[in-house]
Amino acid sequence: MSRSCLAVILAAGDSTRMKSSMSKVLHPIASRPLIAHVMDAVARAGVGSAALVVGRDAEQVAKAAAVGGVAVETFLQTQRLGTGHAVLAAREAIARGYDDVLVAYGDVPLIAPETLTAARERLAEGADVVVIGFRTQTPTGYGRLLMQGRELIAIREEKDATDEERKVEWCNSGLMAIHGGKALALLEKIGNQNLKGEYYLTDIVEIARAEGGKVVVVEAPEREVAGCNNRAELAALEMSWQQRRRHDLMVSGVSMIAPDTVFLAHDTQIAPDVLIEPNVVFGPGVSIESGAVVHAFSHIEGARISAGATVGPFARLRPGADLGAGSKVGNFCEIKNGKIGEGAKVNHLTYIGDATIGARTNIGAGTITCNYDGVNKHETRIGEDAFIGSNSSLVAPVSIGDSAYIASGSVITDDVPAEALAFGRARQEIKPERAKLIRERALALKAARKAQR
Ligand code: UD1
Ligand code: CA
Repeated sequence: MSRSCLAVILAAGDSTRMKSSMSKVLHPIASRPLIAHVMDAVARAGVGSAALVVGRDAEQVAKAAAVGGVAVETFLQTQRLGTGHAVLAAREAIARGYDDVLVAYGDVPLIAPETLTAARERLAEGADVVVIGFRTQTPTGYGRLLMQGRELIAIREEKDATDEERKVEWCNSGLMAIHGGKALALLEKIGNQNLKGEYYLTDIVEIARAEGGKVVVVEAPEREVAGCNNRAELAALEMSWQQRRRHDLMVSGVSMIAPDTVFLAHDTQIAPDVLIEPNVVFGPGVSIESGAVVHAFSHIEGARISAGATVGPFARLRPGADLGAGSKVGNFCEIKNGKIGEGAKVNHLTYIGDATIGARTNIGAGTITCNYDGVNKHETRIGEDAFIGSNSSLVAPVSIGDSAYIASGSVITDDVPAEALAFGRARQEIKPERAKLIRERALALKAARKAQR
């Protein structure tokens, strides 16, 4: 769309019911603050600038809102006098003159860009105000949309509604689009003569109509306009988001055995023909290529999993884990900032941190890269086709050449050249018959103590 648009994002609510030390809009769903979800939607609806109306944590909110290339400025609403008053906190931005002004809520994160775009299209077609409405069987608390044919004549707030009006199940989401050239004049006419004594943004409907303006409604599904007042509603938003994204992934060719137990982040990328087993949690920054399998109970963030690799069960991949094609990271293994070469295996009870492992190398059970000296992190490099015996400690910085062999139980502190065999453990000794002698002594001691009692 070639029209310019300012989004005014209302986020000055006092968040009391969240019982939180931080602003409500900073709380995450899908590992991303609510405000970032809203910004992502407005960006996708072609919005270039946003005015955030905040009551607290302005800096953090602005930072979290830096999504999708939208230019963001914040406005402080020090007194919370209603939604109409809140929009006017951004007066300076609105006065700059945009074709469209879009009002969204910082705590309504599931709004789809298509809905916002549809509202802007109605403006382009000549409407002065476009209200985003929804139908619900539980309208209590919402403003009701009073219609005359296809035109909206008023929004009645719950408190001010008659019993008859309260039966209406056609409600105001709170989101709307306003003719940019007329917005300021309309907003400034809003008063606070109502039961709550607040400046209701919703009064703009009757004000615009009194001036001969056209007001219409764009309908959104109820799930898209759900808000968040407390942690239970936050969890409900999370569930709704997760259900939608799991569904989209499955439809795109990803298999999930128990989708309700798989938790995705906002940016999780999974290619078709990947299998995700039950109880897998994704943090941000994960991409998985086709043919990979993530076994049950794995926790994965900041990781790249290449084609045909397998992960888990019970694996933890932390930021910087980079699994090559066909590689394996098995049970009770943790990988952090580690590159696992093509076809390499890290199958059991291992920690790989700040390391590079070459193609086809086998890392035995219980191997630990000792990457941290208490102050600094150090790197471990292991070549291709190497074999690290079980229960070895690789004390970084250290490097192990191609096709080298590390004996089990070694503590490796010096570099190992290609093709070499390294032992870093005490040599085994055999004392014939010594076990018998030790046992006889122990039994004799026990008998002597018993005799003394
Ligand atoms: C508002 C609408 C109502 C709609 C409902 C949808 C008005 C008068 N009513 O009601 O028709 O059905 O939303 O949820 O607009 N905010 C500020 N500053 C303020 C007041 C509010 O930033 O001074 C922000 C809040 O943080 C919130 C949003 O605006 O994000 C809505 O405020 P809220 O008090 O929840 O509005 P409702 O009374 O529920
Ligand atoms: Ca509300």
